[in-house]
Amino acid sequence: MGNARPASFMSDASFDWLYPEWIQQMSRRHWTPMGIAKKAAGFLAAEEGKKILDIGSGVGKFTLIGAHYHPRSFFYGVEQRSELHHYALSAKEYTGTENATFINQNFTQVNLAAYDHFYFYNAFFENLTTHGRIDHRIEYSDSLYHYYSRFLYKELDRKPAGTRLVTFHSSEDEIPPSYQVVDTSADFLLKMWMKR
Ligand SMILES: C[S@@+](CC[C@H](N)C(=O)[O-])C[C@H]1O[C@@H](n2cnc3c(N)ncnc32)[C@H](O)[C@@H]1O
Repeated sequence: MGNARPASFMSDASFDWLYPEWIQQMSRRHWTPMGIAKKAAGFLAAEEGKKILDIGSGVGKFTLIGAHYHPRSFFYGVEQRSELHHYALSAKEYTGTENATFINQNFTQVNLAAYDHFYFYNAFFENLTTHGRIDHRIEYSDSLYHYYSRFLYKELDRKPAGTRLVTFHSSEDEIPPSYQVVDTSADFLLKMWMKR
């Protein structure tokens, strides 16, 4: 692998060192664990040269790990919070991960038709719980949860057969019946889906 800082990708702890302490403290609850990220990325990047989008990419943990281990695939992350986006860019630069791209937008503003496969770590759930929120700078509501879930559902339903999706901790509200589970982790928290 051609990245400048391969040591950052050795463990969750070494990856966490890319970020300030307050971001590290959120890691266990909000960012994908290294082993899960590797497994998810392996499924999504099964075919080289594809574009993989992390919907709600936070500080870029999944995107960077996927890009590092699959240098011939293109990993993207879209994140609504500019501060988290900023830390993702810094971590990309520090690790020299060239095939990772970060977009600072609400995912509803992104053309999802331009991506082949998707990763989704329960990004909209923050609208349903007051526990452990990342910050208090954005609006949260049940109706936003339903709006986002419905939006993603419709977009995923439009994708061609063979589209791959990985969910982690999903309530599955955003998954159309055209997607079939093809693999799961033993605890069923991680699910690999394929569009029929
Ligand atoms: C549970 S974190 C997962 C972060 C990253 N995918 C990872 O696994 O390391 C979910 C992220 O989704 C972001 N998010 C939630 N709703 C979003 C939206 N509508 N558009 C873009 N980002 C969103 C949150 O700001 C948060 O950073």
